[in-house]
Amino acid sequence: MSDQPVDPRIQELRDRKAQAYIGGGEDKIARQHARGRMTARERLQLLLDKGTFREVDVFVTHNSSEFGLAEQKFPGDGVVTGYGSINGRLVFVYSQDFTVFGGSVSRAHAQKICKIMDMAMKNGAPVVGLNDSGGARIQEGVHSLAGYAEIFYRNVISSGVIPQISIIMGPCAGGAVYSPAITDFVVMVKETSHMFVTGPDVIKAVTHEDVTFEELGGASVHASKSGVAHFAAENEEDAIFLVQHLVDYLPSNNMQDPPLSPPTDDPLREAPELDTIIPDNPNKPYDMKEVIRHVVDDSQFLEVHEHWARNIIVGFARLGGRPVGVIAQQPTVLAGVLDVEASQKGARFVRFCDAFNVPLIVFEDVPGFMPGINQEHGGIIRQGAKLLYAFCEATVPKLTVIVRKAYGGAYCVMNPRHIGADMVLAWPSAEIAVMGPEGAVNVIFRREIADAGDPMVRKGELVQDYRDRFANPYVAAAAGFIDNVIEPRETRPHLINALEMLQNKWDSLPPKKHGNIPL
Ligand code: HXC
Repeated sequence: MSDQPVDPRIQELRDRKAQAYIGGGEDKIARQHARGRMTARERLQLLLDKGTFREVDVFVTHNSSEFGLAEQKFPGDGVVTGYGSINGRLVFVYSQDFTVFGGSVSRAHAQKICKIMDMAMKNGAPVVGLNDSGGARIQEGVHSLAGYAEIFYRNVISSGVIPQISIIMGPCAGGAVYSPAITDFVVMVKETSHMFVTGPDVIKAVTHEDVTFEELGGASVHASKSGVAHFAAENEEDAIFLVQHLVDYLPSNNMQDPPLSPPTDDPLREAPELDTIIPDNPNKPYDMKEVIRHVVDDSQFLEVHEHWARNIIVGFARLGGRPVGVIAQQPTVLAGVLDVEASQKGARFVRFCDAFNVPLIVFEDVPGFMPGINQEHGGIIRQGAKLLYAFCEATVPKLTVIVRKAYGGAYCVMNPRHIGADMVLAWPSAEIAVMGPEGAVNVIFRREIADAGDPMVRKGELVQDYRDRFANPYVAAAAGFIDNVIEPRETRPHLINALEMLQNKWDSLPPKKHGNIPL
């Protein structure tokens, strides 16, 4: 530092900034730390590349005078907004400051968020929102609600144009939950973050149910039961690291392709382990995640919604350095059947990938849709239709590998050639049929089995005959419904080659305002 006197105007600027940086005060910061939570600025420092954060609107304050607010003004008004980079790529950010009015949302606070959302849209870059807020600033009444509605509107208009990611790092309650809910990915932190529309006290009063914050709206519940959270992080650092990793797979906007990285894994690498991964008994499970890891670059798979609807697997990986979205059945969970939640999970992921030019890779082993009264009454017709709709309307490169079962309606849903797949490959273990052999012979040979001298023996013969005829990939291959039957070990080079062939694919839907997906 030089000994020269500082220009008083510059000193004033420094003092004002220092005041802003301290948020609601040292005591509130200490309270935040004591609860295992970082401050809004500490979080941004960790999220963004060193020295890249540029703050916007640091001097904004609210304009209200009700309930003594005129005497309580904090520069920034409870939210730190601006832009910076993650792994060298531009992102816009907001980070709510719980030390100022509990991070509650005033109109001014909301307008700061809206400003950076507008900047992100103009400049085609993702928005990452770090949420830690008591909700609408109660003293401001409808002005706060207006601010929220303006944020929601931008969340919707930006949807499918720029990626939007929400990290929940504290309370997020009431109508406030609907901003993260509209964004593409929600990351929650275990134990310290909670999301709910009505809290434990209201629930107790209305339905007389007793529930804790964590049981009602903690990260584990939303990541495994409701599907609201795509990721449940162990702590705040973990949540931030996850988002940095996630952003690497995504394009900055819907006009760009996802970022290529130089391949670190041989594109021609074969995986001999895959030749023996399918059990001889078609009813025995195996771990589809192992199949995925053997195929993708460096076995790196970022699973999304890992703990919800585990019978379907979705997530990001790279093939030959190119980001891809993987959708696969998991035979170890409910035999990989499609049910209400799996359909919702799959559909949402397919639509994200399609909106942001991420090619889709399907690994299929599906015995059909889940039977049951619960499923029917839970709307499996409507929900299953979502996944079908999502695959049909997707125009990104779409590749399918039929690993084992592709039965019935589920065959039609899981990205066959008939609904626009660009390449369908099958392993020799593939079984493509209207239903499994047992069920099929029970329907078409019921009388013959009943009349046989030994019905069990006759049924066994018919099952074997059906299996020989239909439970293989060659009937579909003869019809041209699948493009090739390949040795499992060759899956990786085949997929990488197909993606290269498809890199200039151009496909579009007929002009329309929007489709009418069965929501
Ligand atoms: C104004 C608020 C506030 C709010 C908290 N504060 N929430 N100020 N409006 N919504 C202030 C507190 O008065 C307190 O100020 C400081 O923030 C910290 O709050 P504490 O209660 O001390 O913190 P904690 O014990 O951690 O509890 C956090 C909390 C609790 C669970 C979030 O504050 C709470 O229940 N707040 C109200 C939540 C709520 O009902 N929000 C409205 C929801 S409806 P001091 O000065 O004492 O430090 C809604 C509608 C949105 O959000 C609609 C969108 C469509």
